[in-house]
Amino acid sequence: MSTQYHFDVLIIGTGSAGLMSALQLSEDLSVALIAKDKLLEGSSYYAQGGISAVLDSADNFKSHIKDTLSTGSNLGDEKAVRFMVENAPEAIASLEAAGVLFTQENEQYHLTTEGGHSNRRVAHVADKTGQSIQSNLLDSVKSKKNICLFENFIAIDLLIKDKQCYGAYILNKSSNKVESFIAHQTIIATGGASKTYLYTSNPDTSTGDGIAMTYRAYCDIVNMEFTQFHPTCLYHPHAKSFLISEALRGEGAKLILPNGEAFMHKYDKQAELAPRDIVARAIDSEMKINGFDCVYLDISFKDKDWIQAHFPTIDKKCISFGIDISQQPVPVVPAAHYTCGGVQTNLDAQTNVSNLYAVGEVAHTGVHGANRMASNSLLECVVFAKACANHINTQIFEQDYPNFNDWDASRASPSKEKVMVSHLWDEVRRIMWNFVGIVRSNKRLRAAQMRLTQIQNEVDEYYRLYLVSSDLIELRNLITTAKITVKSAISRTESRGLHYNEDYPNTSDTIKNTLVKL
Ligand code: FAD
Ligand code: SIN
Repeated sequence: MSTQYHFDVLIIGTGSAGLMSALQLSEDLSVALIAKDKLLEGSSYYAQGGISAVLDSADNFKSHIKDTLSTGSNLGDEKAVRFMVENAPEAIASLEAAGVLFTQENEQYHLTTEGGHSNRRVAHVADKTGQSIQSNLLDSVKSKKNICLFENFIAIDLLIKDKQCYGAYILNKSSNKVESFIAHQTIIATGGASKTYLYTSNPDTSTGDGIAMTYRAYCDIVNMEFTQFHPTCLYHPHAKSFLISEALRGEGAKLILPNGEAFMHKYDKQAELAPRDIVARAIDSEMKINGFDCVYLDISFKDKDWIQAHFPTIDKKCISFGIDISQQPVPVVPAAHYTCGGVQTNLDAQTNVSNLYAVGEVAHTGVHGANRMASNSLLECVVFAKACANHINTQIFEQDYPNFNDWDASRASPSKEKVMVSHLWDEVRRIMWNFVGIVRSNKRLRAAQMRLTQIQNEVDEYYRLYLVSSDLIELRNLITTAKITVKSAISRTESRGLHYNEDYPNTSDTIKNTLVKL
């Protein structure tokens, strides 16, 4: 008999979405909060630029809404965008209540700007906004008696009965046992899927687990073709996924070619502050046309003291690779950064499966449309986590929990072929990078679909035969998410926002979302 836990609420993921959801739940509810890695590991911790909100008297909601919708190539849901924008100042207040101290100047927020924003509205904690948010939220969560934290527990699949969700099967990575977490309500807060790509700004946790799990539970998965590539990740052989924040461009940094020539003005009148899809495609195009390995970002016109005050993390990291950004331009390349699509939810974060919610990057609330505006993700996490918790707080909880069989591993054996898993991991990520990247074509998308289908069959067979491991669980999710992404990309017969297909270069007059379901 394996371990069974019973909770009112199970939250899968301890990024800003998961932690904020937990904090906002009524203290009368018993809550399990699980993370597949260290509690602080996840994209939230690495967020640099900041979180957007109308905090300045010269700014207004209408402008934030307009910028968000126009950056998203008019595919965003105006109602959802309005909800997020109007709740943004309160989201900032909730973070401050948890202890986050946003950078101030003259006793006011120091607001920076990034691509797509027409006003300064990005609140930040120097260039370590995510670290500050995560440490403070986690400390607050740890002070709550109703919340139990489970580190190094990876969710495998949701427990579904009569079209309702009752928790999940979860692998305890320390004991290697699969345990049942049975709950009245489940919140998926597992982050994005940028690890489906070979080069990414994301940590290893972003393997699309929540998207794959909810897909298998018959949830609607929407707009997965919109993978955002961040234009500027550090290009260095020993730098794994290090981002050079867009806030540098917000403060005037220029993108240049190896000969020092600026080029962004050729692509968009907003130049370096054009939305990310435009900047990433421009860099990709310059690299391909000229055969360059990277381009450069130059902020060396600012002095060392200013750089150390505003971008201490980036400065330190670059110095560790022998690059002094106050003296020389930094080599950069685009990399997969954010998953705009995900599990369809409403304004209360409910999915189409009863008692199942999704919050944060895993969700498709409709706010990002075809391209997310910088610093709107942390905002979405906080606003919708609060809405989700408020909705759960109003539910009436049953006394009894349904019965579920224990995880059955009787027909599986220990794997002697672990090389299969590592090989397929790598192959999926290469296919996605080469065939489903910044610029797509019908031929490359179909080639990706064919090989990914074969890989899925190989993974399914392996999954049936062998005992589950963390790598295998992630590979299964990675391939499912990659396939959904390709299917969505094939079904969009236009170019819009982040999805650029050279066989359909124009944007259609018809605006519609892409839906994939089992
Ligand atoms: P995450 O923070 O990624 O957390 C996911 C959690 O789910 C983790 O705890 C993980 O362990 C857990 N998990 C995943 N799968 C499982 C599973 N199967 N079982 C158990 N647990 C699981 N956005 C902004 O708005 N502003 C910024 O300045 C900004 N900067 C960024 C910089 C970088 C380098 C990166 C990578 C992203 C940045 N973003 C920024 C995007 C933003 O940080 C993320 O979109 C957001 O933090 C996602 O939060 P989340 O809670 O949804 O997921
Ligand atoms: C950055 O700091 O450039 C990342 C901001 C974001 O992804 O919103």
